[in-house]
Amino acid sequence: MPLASSGLCGTLLTTRHVSSILVSKHRIAPSTFRQHSSMYIPPGLMSSPVYIEFLRKRFNIPPETKTHIWKFDYDPILQAADTHGPIFSKARFDEAYAQYNKLKDHGGNYTMTDMWNKQHDDHAQPPFDIPGLLFGQHQGMRTKINMVFNHLQFLADQYPRHRYKSLTAKCPIGFLNEIPHKSAADCFDAETLNNAKPYWKTQWHQHPYHEALVSFLMSSYGEKTAQVDQIVCFGLGNFEDNVDARPRCYTQHLLACTIRDALAKLQWHKPAIYAQDPAYCPAGVRLLKQDFDIEVVDDPEGWRMLNSNTFVVSISPMVPVRQFAVDYTAEAGGPAGMLCNGIVYDGLNESWVEFVGHPPHDLEADPASPAVFEYAKERCVERNFRSMTVLPRVQCT
Ligand SMILES: C[S@@+](CC[C@H](N)C(=O)[O-])C[C@H]1O[C@@H](n2cnc3c(N)ncnc32)[C@H](O)[C@@H]1O
Repeated sequence: MPLASSGLCGTLLTTRHVSSILVSKHRIAPSTFRQHSSMYIPPGLMSSPVYIEFLRKRFNIPPETKTHIWKFDYDPILQAADTHGPIFSKARFDEAYAQYNKLKDHGGNYTMTDMWNKQHDDHAQPPFDIPGLLFGQHQGMRTKINMVFNHLQFLADQYPRHRYKSLTAKCPIGFLNEIPHKSAADCFDAETLNNAKPYWKTQWHQHPYHEALVSFLMSSYGEKTAQVDQIVCFGLGNFEDNVDARPRCYTQHLLACTIRDALAKLQWHKPAIYAQDPAYCPAGVRLLKQDFDIEVVDDPEGWRMLNSNTFVVSISPMVPVRQFAVDYTAEAGGPAGMLCNGIVYDGLNESWVEFVGHPPHDLEADPASPAVFEYAKERCVERNFRSMTVLPRVQCT
């Protein structure tokens, strides 16, 4: 088993949730829940003896296993961003999106630019039919070429993990031909949720966080915020048959609706909600429309929707939503608001530990960055809400 995200999840299962919502003088802004797939690790802690010991125990790594501390080299990337624009600038994304449209049906050669605007050639395999015998639930589906976002930490990582990745791994955006997350057919029976739904709704509406969120939205910034035309959600999860994930996923979509309803009262205009998560199967798409009036958008269309009148909702996504949202809308002053995992530091971890001979653990999927931190810090006032027990964490196995 790779050390991977499972390790980082594990620690947070025992951690109290700390969530916060931030608001700027002019607009709503980040953020809430801590991630399970990523955790706040104060600079230096990742290589501290206590943390190394914790990881050893967590993954049953023999005491004699050597460790190697890898540093991140942030400066060149941050300097390049100062000179050539943010990692996920709109210009860079638009260029990649044009390539994506050429590649998505048949694959082929492409060229991507790195942070210094140097060009790199690479090749995307054509999508192919998935053999049903191997991947039952994906029978009848084709692989899909996806845009891949290499965030600040990935670009600055000195560990030679890049050798396993494509030539363009050092570029902020690349492409991978992947098996779709979702299944072609319904992946759950909506009927099986019917008994639990009223309970989840009551839980959410009675939860102190709900009241705090609504009264905060209604009183703290109200007229001072930018007009919100749309709410775009990323990675809120599908309603799989998993007792832990289901209420969490259901409640997170309810939370997006709560924001919509509060903004509708504030603005006299009801923002539409869109949601991107490649895991939504047809049953999930129907449920989202029926129960929440949420429209599903395919990856990568959700990214393109972001602008300064968008409120972003994203909790523990597997993709760098916060860095993307702030960089992509930087010229317009950032998204109108964002509700996400807590932004408590600038994302510049000093190092991480490798257990030599063991697979490397993944980097955080949605880490902060100095730009994200600035967005939260400079322009916002933070409010802390604690103990989001109504949103149980996904059990990481
Ligand atoms: C760790 S789960 C979190 C689910 C849920 N928010 C929760 O807290 O339980 C990460 C989610 O990110 C989704 N995801 C992966 N790639 C994505 C993409 N390109 N756009 C949006 N969501 C994505 C996954 O399908 C998954 O549902």
